[in-house]
Amino acid sequence: MEFSSRIQKITESATFKLNAKASELVDGGEKIYNLTAGQFPFKPMPEFVDQIRGELNFLKSYQYSPVLGIPELRKKLLSYFRESRNLDLSNLSEPYDCIVSNGGKHSLYNIFGALLDPGDEVILFAPYWLSYPEIIKLHGGKVVLVRSNIYDHFEPSLDDIAGLINENTKAIVINSPNNPTGISYSDEWMKGFAELMANYKDVFLISDEIYFSLYYYDPKPSYFYQYDSELLERTFIVDGISKALACTGLRLGYCFGPKPYIEVLSKFQGQTTSCASSLIQRSLLDFDFSLLETYLKPIKSHLRTNAEIVRYSFREANLSHAWYQSTSAFYYLIDFSQMPIINVFKQEKDDQSDYAEKICDLILEKFGVALVPGTDFGAPNTGRVSLVAEKDPFEEAILKLIQFLISD
Ligand SMILES: Cc1ncc(COP(=O)(O)O)c(C=O)c1O
Repeated sequence: MEFSSRIQKITESATFKLNAKASELVDGGEKIYNLTAGQFPFKPMPEFVDQIRGELNFLKSYQYSPVLGIPELRKKLLSYFRESRNLDLSNLSEPYDCIVSNGGKHSLYNIFGALLDPGDEVILFAPYWLSYPEIIKLHGGKVVLVRSNIYDHFEPSLDDIAGLINENTKAIVINSPNNPTGISYSDEWMKGFAELMANYKDVFLISDEIYFSLYYYDPKPSYFYQYDSELLERTFIVDGISKALACTGLRLGYCFGPKPYIEVLSKFQGQTTSCASSLIQRSLLDFDFSLLETYLKPIKSHLRTNAEIVRYSFREANLSHAWYQSTSAFYYLIDFSQMPIINVFKQEKDDQSDYAEKICDLILEKFGVALVPGTDFGAPNTGRVSLVAEKDPFEEAILKLIQFLISD
């Protein structure tokens, strides 16, 4: 008896593997600095918790909502989207709409499920969030990569993108602010990308904006469709409450797009999870999104402080080749490829193999610092640091990390 070939193609999440190993070491009494977190280590704002509490007594909180989500909530989310991205949606050929799902990941699952036939190609910009290739493969799609690195400030070359678009290209995914690099693509890049995409009218665009509000240095992230609103007519935008409201476990996300696109997603979602949690949808109905700014202020300051610790410590240790300015989301990607530690693993001088997993394993064993290897993010010989930990242990962990990286 065999499981499907589809499921056999999927790799287990490296973050979960690393977390499991770190937890084992903690259980064995070791002090571990866990820098793998993809979520905040604190509770959501009290105003939102109060909204949830207030909805607990209503029968409707426990019953199915319409597949697309509660209509008033969709309307509210759509207004939030329009205002926060400063858009005029009134001149589009189709009205814009919204579907509420069980998280941003679920929205992406819906989108790829609705778009892909076997053999269709999806262009990803590496480093990318590790779930994209797996979801694409699950739906029979083929991943095509455009690589960038620290020297390009992790911005993919527009010429490289153009060179890879062909008649099989179904979609391109843009994730800004970006997991795992913590950068947002610049205004110039977004403008150039908009100009480029105006030439390729048969390609869908998927903009994953789950970290939209989490920028700790100005400017606020901008998007290609703000430079050419016609692109909205073939774009899906994914957002949700996981990151900005510190609610990863409540599983609620949303996707914006032209009404006919959202109807197709609804068809897919209707036969998978039906609707998203009614309790959480109802709790968002009267939630004032403008409170987010005050809630996020100390959080952004904390992320900025930890990002500065990484940068200054690397600069002081003369590891300037791994130095860049992260601005958003809550990650920093460390390039091991020029560090002395890589020589412990290299078989010969020009060995280009990826040792990220081995390096991360060794850091955890020798110094108790857990990072996520960049391998699954399409970034060989790198490791992802999460910036959410408390300042003092975070600073200690970074110093240990540097001590390890400069040893050979
Ligand atoms: C880039 C990116 N997109 C989407 C998601 C999924 O978020 P959600 O919890 O809403 O499913 C994550 C979660 O880590 C992410 O990093």
